[in-house]
Amino acid sequence: MEDTRGCGDATDPGNKCSDNDFGPSKLGTKEHWDDAYEKELETFKDIGDVGDIWFGEESMSRVLRWMERAEIPENAAILDIGTGNGAFLVELAKHGYRNLSGIDYSPASVELARNVLQAEDLTDVTLKEMDFLNHQGQLKDFDVCIDKGTFDAISLNPHNTEEGKELYVQALKDALKDKGFFTITSCNWTKEQLRHRFTEGFEFVQELPTPSFQFGGERGNTVSALIFKRVH
Ligand SMILES: C[S@@+](CC[C@H](N)C(=O)[O-])C[C@H]1O[C@@H](n2cnc3c(N)ncnc32)[C@H](O)[C@@H]1O
Repeated sequence: MEDTRGCGDATDPGNKCSDNDFGPSKLGTKEHWDDAYEKELETFKDIGDVGDIWFGEESMSRVLRWMERAEIPENAAILDIGTGNGAFLVELAKHGYRNLSGIDYSPASVELARNVLQAEDLTDVTLKEMDFLNHQGQLKDFDVCIDKGTFDAISLNPHNTEEGKELYVQALKDALKDKGFFTITSCNWTKEQLRHRFTEGFEFVQELPTPSFQFGGERGNTVSALIFKRVH
C-alpha cells in the first residue's frame, strides 16, 4: 500500500520551537480520506482486514497504559476525533471503556468503523459523520478526547492551514469537560510545537515515551505523544 504519511521533518532542529507550516498535502483533503476509506471498506468486506493502524499498535497501547495509570474510569465519556477505521475504539472497548464515541468527516470511514465494531460485537459505540472543525456544540462534556493523526491531517489542508488549526483548538475546548484530558499522537509536530499550540485553555500534563533516534548529533522522535488537561 502507498505510504501516505504526511510526516514533516519533526526532528529538524531549526523547526523545533516555531509553529511554521510544512507543505500542504493531499492528506489534508476530505477527498483523499473518502477515497482511502472507500477502498479500505471494500477490503474489509472482502477479507476482514481493518486497514492502516496509524503509527502502529504501540501508539494505542501507550495511550491505554497512560489511561490506566491516570485511573480514567471505565464509564468516562471518551471521544476518538477522526476515528478512521475505528480500531482505537475497539481497543478502548476491549480495555473495559464503555462510553465511547467516534466521529469522522468521511462517510466511508464511519461506515468502515461501524463494520469493524460490528464484527467485534461492539454495537453500543456512538459513531457519527461529522466535521470536527464545525461541530457546533454537538460534541461536549467529554472526559477524554483522543487524537491520533487527525490534527496532523488537518494541519496539512492545502486551503486553510492556520484557520483549520485555530478551529481545531476551539472545537477541542468546546468538546472537553473542565479538567478533561486530551491525548494527541502526531508525526508532524514536535512536543514543543504542540505545547505551543495547546497553551491557552490547556495545561500540559506529560509526554508519553516514544521511540527516538539519533542523527547528526541530534536526538529526535518520529512520533510525539502528549497529554493535556482542559483548564478554564
Ligand atoms: C491519519 S488518519 C487517522 C485515523 C485514525 N485516528 C487512526 O489513528 O487510525 C486522519 C483521520 O482524520 C479524519 N479527519 C480529517 N479531518 C477531519 C475533520 N475536520 N473532522 C473529522 N475528521 C477528520 C480523516 O478522515 C481520517 O480518518
